[in-house]
Amino acid sequence: MATLVSAKEMLEKARDGKYAVGQFNINNLEWTKAVLLTAEELKSPVILGVSEGAGKYMAGYKTVVGMVNGMLESLNITVPVALHLDHGSYQGALDCLDAGFSSVMFDGSHFPIDENIAKTTELVALTKKLGRSLEAEVGSIGGEEDGVIGAGECADPDECKKISDLGVTMLAAGIGNIHGAYPENWPGLSFETLEKVKAKTGDKPLVLHGGTGIPEDQIKKAISLGVAKINVNTECQWAFQKATRKYIEDGKDLKGKGFDPRKLLGPGFDAIKATVKEKIELFGSNGKA
Ligand code: 13P
Repeated sequence: MATLVSAKEMLEKARDGKYAVGQFNINNLEWTKAVLLTAEELKSPVILGVSEGAGKYMAGYKTVVGMVNGMLESLNITVPVALHLDHGSYQGALDCLDAGFSSVMFDGSHFPIDENIAKTTELVALTKKLGRSLEAEVGSIGGEEDGVIGAGECADPDECKKISDLGVTMLAAGIGNIHGAYPENWPGLSFETLEKVKAKTGDKPLVLHGGTGIPEDQIKKAISLGVAKINVNTECQWAFQKATRKYIEDGKDLKGKGFDPRKLLGPGFDAIKATVKEKIELFGSNGKA
């Protein structure tokens, strides 16, 4: 039976092979099943992202672990899957490790660097002992996620080195990226920052948050410069929303048994699958499991 794995090995392979593994945030059963089935079809490693808000929504981290483990078995998933806390607090990281997540992010980017270092150091020791992976963040990612608003800063490469050297598995560094929609006047990713961060952090797999709406050429360039993990959330939500809206606007919920949730949520499910497929192919992780 497939079991959840740490993200370490899949990300080191991605870094060496010059592709990126997608982290797709999940919200419920349909999301989880759509991401897992698509990764399996494309023979791609995958990371399921769970924010603290989504964890609460899904009735707690233990429920999420139970659902994901159940699906790995009943859907016969053979590709490597990591279950990862996205933008976790220190306590959230402890709770997820306790519940059985195979990977956690501790987002200490809003703390002064010394506090970020102190808390990350403790979590490095704990995750190493447990054989799980740890993502840290330097320079907050812009936009809004779960009520946390960041300004889209560019990380300080020296601070990135300090956090990277603590022994985290992967490092998220702000390079002008934003969660959610990018404004029309967005100047694009700062490859200058990315190159400096890469030069300071060596072979540490780098993480690009805010994958929604970044033009394909910038995604490819970021991968060529050391990004090995790319997070996508909003784009799946938009795909689900558009397909569900169309189903209702076409009056399909009013015909026959169209009200059955298994039918009503079907188009949204298919739309998430299509989005995940597109991203996996863009990131180049298909066939790499
Ligand atoms: P988007 O919602 O912009 O795709 O960002 C996702 C993300 O970075 C999750 O951490």
